[in-house]
Amino acid sequence: MIPSRYLTTCDDDNSRVAMILGGDQRPLRGESTILLAPKIKLSSGYEMPVLGFGTYKLRGFQCTSAVHCAVETGFRHFDTAYYYENEKDVGEALRTQIKMGNISRENIFLTTKLWNTHHDPRDVRRICEQQLKLLGFTYIDLYLLHFPVGYKHMCDEILKPMSDGKLQTTNVDYIDTWNAMEELVKLGMVRSIGLSNFNMEQVQRVIQCSSSKPVVNQVEVWPGFLQKDLVDYCRYNGIVVTAYSPFGQPNRENHSPTYFFSEGMKRLVKKYKKTSGQIVLRFLVDYGVVPIPKAANPLHISQNLNIFDFKLDDSDTRALLGIKPKKRIVKYDIVKEHPFYPFERDEESQYQDVNNLQNVPLAREQRETTLNDDDQRGE
Ligand SMILES: NC(=O)c1ccc[n+]([C@@H]2O[C@H](COP(=O)([O-])OP(=O)(O)OC[C@H]3O[C@@H](n4cnc5c(N)ncnc54)[C@H](OP(=O)(O)O)[C@@H]3O)[C@@H](O)[C@H]2O)c1
Repeated sequence: MIPSRYLTTCDDDNSRVAMILGGDQRPLRGESTILLAPKIKLSSGYEMPVLGFGTYKLRGFQCTSAVHCAVETGFRHFDTAYYYENEKDVGEALRTQIKMGNISRENIFLTTKLWNTHHDPRDVRRICEQQLKLLGFTYIDLYLLHFPVGYKHMCDEILKPMSDGKLQTTNVDYIDTWNAMEELVKLGMVRSIGLSNFNMEQVQRVIQCSSSKPVVNQVEVWPGFLQKDLVDYCRYNGIVVTAYSPFGQPNRENHSPTYFFSEGMKRLVKKYKKTSGQIVLRFLVDYGVVPIPKAANPLHISQNLNIFDFKLDDSDTRALLGIKPKKRIVKYDIVKEHPFYPFERDEESQYQDVNNLQNVPLAREQRETTLNDDDQRGE
């Protein structure tokens, strides 16, 4: 258990995010007035833009065109992984943008991750070299240990090694993997190292058992799944939390997550003249985490960066903070029996209880009306 002194109780501590004015270049396309993301200083001394571009599920032409669009819109922080099998595409698009003179390598913040099949410390340097080759760069800005549970290495191409219908895991201790990643910093192959999907106890163990602190823990965070204790714990220890699936993977067809399509959200959209996505991203940056939305649609890409010219009222921020807690989406439950499984083990899919999800609560003065509206609809 994490001692309670590590957990802050302060609700209003967003100002602790040390903002540094960032962006020495203007976006090349879209609205000329889009402000680039400010940067936050990591404990390694390097700076990371407080908003990034996620690339999971983007491959081939869709990936390169999305990354081109993101750079030209003004994104400078990119998130990929060995597991996404798109490092070559992400690297190619970024290198083309550099060749075109639109950005310099120094102005890009590139994150990639060590996959679960490469936890054996003897594999770490070799696979990182291979990832650098795929990306086409001489260094990675941030290299994350993707998940605490190791999978058996059969060959580099098999990402989920199965045998008799069961995923083959290993007992490699993530501390040993972490220690091997520390060597990559010394070799200059990566500038900073961090974690992903680690719970508080696991982060604490890494801090206690190694000589360097993780600079980032990349975990699932979205309105309704804010992981406040973990975020507070990381912040207390100078670890920046990167928020993956920052919208909660919106799906227009089944209207999930419900808050994203709610009447309450529609009111915020009208009030701020911003889209639901922009409201969520602005809220998360002010909450003190670094969202990395994925978008293939060029309109989404430019909307997602255009969040630094407005601010949510305290009452609306409180309403978003107060959304009834929901269940995590990304569960890796195929390995939930492993001792290093980082999440709660008794969860059901959030989609199974979609009918129980509530609309985003509104600011105090609006709440009564909405509840009445809901009552009238008999929901
Ligand atoms: N470390 C980990 O284990 C882990 C796990 C999951 C994700 N991640 C990282 O986090 C990134 C983001 O998470 P995610 O892809 O799971 O979920 P997400 O960013 O919450 O959702 C992506 C979905 O949102 C849509 N979207 C984007 N911008 C929008 C906007 N302004 N309005 C409405 N819809 C919008 C996208 O549509 P279009 O594509 O059509 O634009 C896409 O369908 C990933 O790409 C990956 O880089 C890391």
